[in-house]
Amino acid sequence: MFISFEGIEGSGKSTLIAALALELQSIGADVLVTREPGGTAFGDAVRSIFIDPQMRIDPLAEAFLMNASRAQHVVESIAPVLKTASIVLCDRFFDATVAYQGYGRGLDIEMLIRLSLVASQSIAPDITFLLDIDAATSIERVRARGTSDRIEQEDTGFYERVRAGYLELAGRFSRIVVLDGREPPETLLAQALQIVVRRRYMVTL
Ligand code: TMP
Repeated sequence: MFISFEGIEGSGKSTLIAALALELQSIGADVLVTREPGGTAFGDAVRSIFIDPQMRIDPLAEAFLMNASRAQHVVESIAPVLKTASIVLCDRFFDATVAYQGYGRGLDIEMLIRLSLVASQSIAPDITFLLDIDAATSIERVRARGTSDRIEQEDTGFYERVRAGYLELAGRFSRIVVLDGREPPETLLAQALQIVVRRRYMVTL
């Protein structure tokens, strides 16, 4: 089972993924926690280039970088793990490319969807949790963290476009479940767990 997590910066993805992994492991599931860009040695190298504030990267080059990381991630890790009974929890997958490089940077949406499907060999998440927060909350949370990578230096308008893009994707693809990122972590965990368990074990908690 393949589950991805999406949302603008500070939406609480990492917290939810860590908590959900623990819960699923406690009921006996094998869980792989991974992320994009990243998930392989090559992907981690791509990530450090991608977030480097000194690096100038054209939007199309961004899209190819993300998909290069994705292609390696799928071949080396995701596809083999999905052949087993494990659950893959992936912090961002191809919706991020459509949201950030498409809605955020202005590249063509349908082209990015096709490109991402080529990179993923048409492997798509079974469920995508979209943690939705507004751009102002996102910027506030990122400031509170005190770090700022290349993407985190973007203005409010960029995050508003990315957020709206994610919501548009959620309207288009039924695998995307929108969760309110302002809810406390325990509530988000309970909501996500309910959905995963119902889908995987066909039981209700
Ligand atoms: P993270 O903050 O969730 O670790 O993600 C790193 C940054 O990369 C984040 O600002 C979103 C951005 N990103 C894209 O712009 N396109 C993509 O396809 C992916 C996977 C991430």
